[in-house]
Amino acid sequence: MEFKIMTREDLDKIVELYVGAFNGEPWYDKWTVETAKKRLGQMIGCEDSLGLIAYDNNKVVGMALGNKEYYYDAVHFHFKELCVDTAIKGKGIGSKLVDEMVRRVKVDGVTEIILWTLRCSEMLGFYEKQNFKVSDELIIMRRSL
Ligand SMILES: CC(C)(COP(=O)(O)OP(=O)(O)OC[C@H]1O[C@@H](n2cnc3c(N)ncnc32)[C@H](O)[C@@H]1OP(=O)(O)O)[C@@H](O)C(=O)NCCC(=O)NCCS
Repeated sequence: MEFKIMTREDLDKIVELYVGAFNGEPWYDKWTVETAKKRLGQMIGCEDSLGLIAYDNNKVVGMALGNKEYYYDAVHFHFKELCVDTAIKGKGIGSKLVDEMVRRVKVDGVTEIILWTLRCSEMLGFYEKQNFKVSDELIIMRRSL
């Protein structure tokens, strides 16, 4: 497997994989190519973003994306997106993408990775295997308008 840094020029290469992954279980979102491109393009363009594309024999098989953020005493990495081609889920690609992202941000001085995800056994099962823990201190709050 090979990892390459994601740029805006890669949007067309990753957008269908993203739509397929998040419109399927356990998310069942309703992304279109257009809405997904808006979100991914915005994230790639944000300051200190870092995205990786995983290739297997020159075929895109997964992607990971997030950004570094300064805190008062540290630099955190906000892990915003991770997905794998739905046809080849469960073959270790997601774990390899997380490992590679962790390795790279550590080199950049990041001391903590923060992410939000769906509250379900699939996501807990996957992220706990990648050594993430549910935070005792932080909660996500939302307000619909
Ligand atoms: C979540 C996702 C990125 C995982 O990638 P993957 O390549 O399928 O996962 P891996 O094969 O690397 O799995 C790693 C470990 O997590 C476990 N795991 C993976 N999916 C799991 C699930 N649905 N439920 C429980 N455990 C799971 C595996 O059993 C594996 O453990 P093992 O190494 O002991 O066998 C991928 O399934 C995906 O793209 N899902 C849709 C999009 C998504 O939910 N992204 C994350 C949102 S923040």
